[in-house]
Amino acid sequence: MSTTSTAQDASNGGGNGRQPHARARRVLMFPLPFQGHINPMLQLADVLHGPGLAVTILHYTGFRNTLDPALRPEFGFVAVPDGVPADVVASGNVVSMIVAMNTAMEASVAFRDVLAGERMPRAACLFVDSSLFGAQKAAEELGLPTIALRTGSAACFNCILAYPMLHQNGYLPPEGSQLDMPVKELPPLRVRDLFLSSRADHDMLSKFLAKATHAARSYSALVLNTFEALETDELEKIRDEIGIAMVLATGPLHRLSSKTEGTAGRSSNVLPHEDHTCIEWLDTQITGSVLYVSVGSLACMDSGELSEVAWGLANSGQPFLWVVRQDLVPGSDGPCLPKGFDDMVTGRGRVTPWAPQQEVLAHRAVGGFWTHNGWNSTLESVAKGCPMICRPQFADQMMNARYVDAVWGIGFELEGELERNKIGEAILKLMKGSEGEAMRKRAGELKKTVASCFESGGSSLLAINELIDHVSSL
Ligand code: UDX
Repeated sequence: MSTTSTAQDASNGGGNGRQPHARARRVLMFPLPFQGHINPMLQLADVLHGPGLAVTILHYTGFRNTLDPALRPEFGFVAVPDGVPADVVASGNVVSMIVAMNTAMEASVAFRDVLAGERMPRAACLFVDSSLFGAQKAAEELGLPTIALRTGSAACFNCILAYPMLHQNGYLPPEGSQLDMPVKELPPLRVRDLFLSSRADHDMLSKFLAKATHAARSYSALVLNTFEALETDELEKIRDEIGIAMVLATGPLHRLSSKTEGTAGRSSNVLPHEDHTCIEWLDTQITGSVLYVSVGSLACMDSGELSEVAWGLANSGQPFLWVVRQDLVPGSDGPCLPKGFDDMVTGRGRVTPWAPQQEVLAHRAVGGFWTHNGWNSTLESVAKGCPMICRPQFADQMMNARYVDAVWGIGFELEGELERNKIGEAILKLMKGSEGEAMRKRAGELKKTVASCFESGGSSLLAINELIDHVSSL
């Protein structure tokens, strides 16, 4: 049942310079239930709520990442049946789960009923994660316009749009020998940077992306969590290709949400609570000395890799803050750090199950970020001017890393097997070397560009205002 908010003053203002007014219009927002997708959707919800739109969040319950409505009382919440078979959930295959969600939505009367119930009164439109394209069809049948949020980069969407061409020109499915070959149609990507998933069946991924592309051409608007100056050519390509009038780059959205990471898109049952004591620990460290290490909410490693990372960090002599999630090593009872590690890093190293990442990246003591290059982590690092060691694993992470390295020059990829000596060298290159210093300087310049996007006349601010005007006109 809906618990939609009644009109109320927007206390957070959304940060976009608009004055709140009575909530004349309501929007429905439907995030994909993974942390890296929930966060930007709820940040966008904050942005819309600030100037006076009422927001109802559609969400899956009983699934991996369950939202806790109590943390966001300013929004209404409506449960949606997910329809994902238990064996698919148990497989942990993210693409299979998303395919199943879409299939269920396309076929499910229950989903249409939820949407029909929320259509009236006053829902202006449905914002949907672009991976939940099955919702678009159902909304269309009810005469409800759909606006898609792409939580990844513009480059990533271009790659998805190019998928048929990549097949036709022989880049996909990839052969081992081709992996370092440049994709001349999508510079600076190489075959191994493409949107591949070692965890997914290739045909299934191709069909999934084809459907996502097809749906994209029917949206009332497309919103991307990036900014014009970062991906100018990539955004232009999308605008040329997609054929819808409104393609808006509104990011980085976390800059506009007044919520901290803990309440922006918190999932209640999977991730531990943020460890704020690590900020107190950072307060004791020398400015720019700490390497922050995190692989986001999904990426994993085996116990051998965990051990190599531990010794690489310990032997580097550099201070570090390392996020070691409880589920970081699949199939174990929990990650087990090597014997002697704690003693070796006392006072200089800190391990935590989950950090307040944005606060960490903004902290004066942090001078570098070892990341898996999920798009949120990448953008957060860009916005905070923090250079990166890139260790991508799957999906869009490889191409995000490629852009960090080859286009923006604010980091480099740690390639090959994880090995303690190599890790130590990479850490010193970023934290102490002249190349790392040059990357830090460029990252500092990019940070200023991000800030300018939200000043008066800035591109992201203009895009947000255009979006609000569009929603108000629906
Ligand atoms: C997933 C996919 O892995 C990624 O390829 C895609 O780009 C987005 O969805 P995820 O692994 O969750 O992403 O990484 P990322 O996109 O970086 O998002 C992680 C979020 O969790 C970030 O907003 C980050 O600030 C937050 N985080 C991470 C914390 O708050 N604390 C931590 O300790 C680690």
